Amino acid sequence: MNGRVTRTPAWTAGGPGIDLAAPEFYTTERHFEVWREARAKHPVAWASSEAGDFWSITAYEPGMQVLKQPKVFISEQGMRLGGNAVAVRRAAGKMLVVADGSKHRRLRGIQASWFTTQAVANMRPELESKLRAHLDRLIARGTPFDAVQELAAKIPSWILCQLMGVPKSDWNRLSRLTDAAFNDSDDTRDGMVARVEAHSEIFSYFGELLEHRRTNPGNDIVSTLAHAEVGGEKLTEEEILFNCDGLMNGGLETTPHAIAGAILAFTRFPETWQQLRKDSELIDAAIDEILRWTSPPMHVMRTATEDVTIGEAEVKAGDKVVVWLPSCDRDETIYPDPDRFVIERWPNPNAHVGFGGGPHYCVGAKLARMEIQVVLELMLPLVQEFELAGEIRRKRSNFLHGFDRLDVTITPARN
Ligand code: HEM
Repeated sequence: MNGRVTRTPAWTAGGPGIDLAAPEFYTTERHFEVWREARAKHPVAWASSEAGDFWSITAYEPGMQVLKQPKVFISEQGMRLGGNAVAVRRAAGKMLVVADGSKHRRLRGIQASWFTTQAVANMRPELESKLRAHLDRLIARGTPFDAVQELAAKIPSWILCQLMGVPKSDWNRLSRLTDAAFNDSDDTRDGMVARVEAHSEIFSYFGELLEHRRTNPGNDIVSTLAHAEVGGEKLTEEEILFNCDGLMNGGLETTPHAIAGAILAFTRFPETWQQLRKDSELIDAAIDEILRWTSPPMHVMRTATEDVTIGEAEVKAGDKVVVWLPSCDRDETIYPDPDRFVIERWPNPNAHVGFGGGPHYCVGAKLARMEIQVVLELMLPLVQEFELAGEIRRKRSNFLHGFDRLDVTITPARN
């Protein structure tokens, strides 16, 4: 970080006292207003925060400029604001999301085979059958439910267990562990200790699973990681475990917020649910609008490797650059009336950066789309409408743009 170096333009949107790195800032919807002001005033601006100072990008074009120049804006020095520096140094070049260049291509090539259209289609039947049974129970219960924990979070955890080849007898245990490991809403010391313990239990779990898969390979990504060779070289144990953690992280942290956020959109714009019920061919377009409107990762961070100009800002080598993805996805020059949820957006239906851009574009994008598609397809015939049944609890996080809790009521469809 650059300590107290001052660069211009300096961030002023929202007035004095705004700390973009502070998790509290994202617990209300004020960030949307502040970002709007920033896009108009200084789309690239130097922001000060407790977590260090950084360039803050709120508009689409400069955001893309960063994402699409991976040699100038690298990931190896961390892609998350305020991340643990020691952990980042350990994982740099070994874990997909914090690897660059040939190291990134090597890891990406190995993992990508698990996210092709066919591979994703193979995971669909199991998800459909679990979700159908779950929805039947939820709707029969007839009381409000928390769309985050009781619905959205379950879906990626079933999928991830399948993908990683976790035996069914361990699904509940792993689901509990991942809930604990990725629950960043409690930032007290106890909360941190609980997260570290859960992560290390996940590492030892996958360490044991890996040993087993080395001698008994299965049809799962852990077996692929264990046996893959690139240029005659296998992945090290450390690389495999980092990437298992990265996949759990990527798959579990984001998708629930897209699904819960979609339900929020259907409560605020109920006509769009009716539009989808009438014409299910709009589902693909709806998925893109869900990804744009919810944009679950709050930001991605890069480090500049050389002096470079972005808009009116003179970025220096070594500067941190943070791209606020939901703000780029609400850039009014790309998406007119951006706070509205509009299923058929034109002319930019799927240019969103919900899945990022450039070489780190989400490797699990097709899988995530399939998960959202299954949820919509199964709910459309069952649900007449959604209604909010309590206060929306947004996540206290600068990294995840989502919800801790979203209580809703369903009116069942009359068939
Ligand atoms: C709605 C759901 C999802 C969203 C919005 C999302 C979003 C993103 C974004 C924005 C990035 C880029 C990070 C960067 O540029 O530094 C990314 C990368 C990644 N995602 Fe996703 N993701 C989702 C689902 C998934 C799923 C289901 C998986 C796997 C099971 C996954 C695994 C990953 C991995 C491993 C990377 C790193 C890719 C790379 O560095 O090449 N994600 N995701």
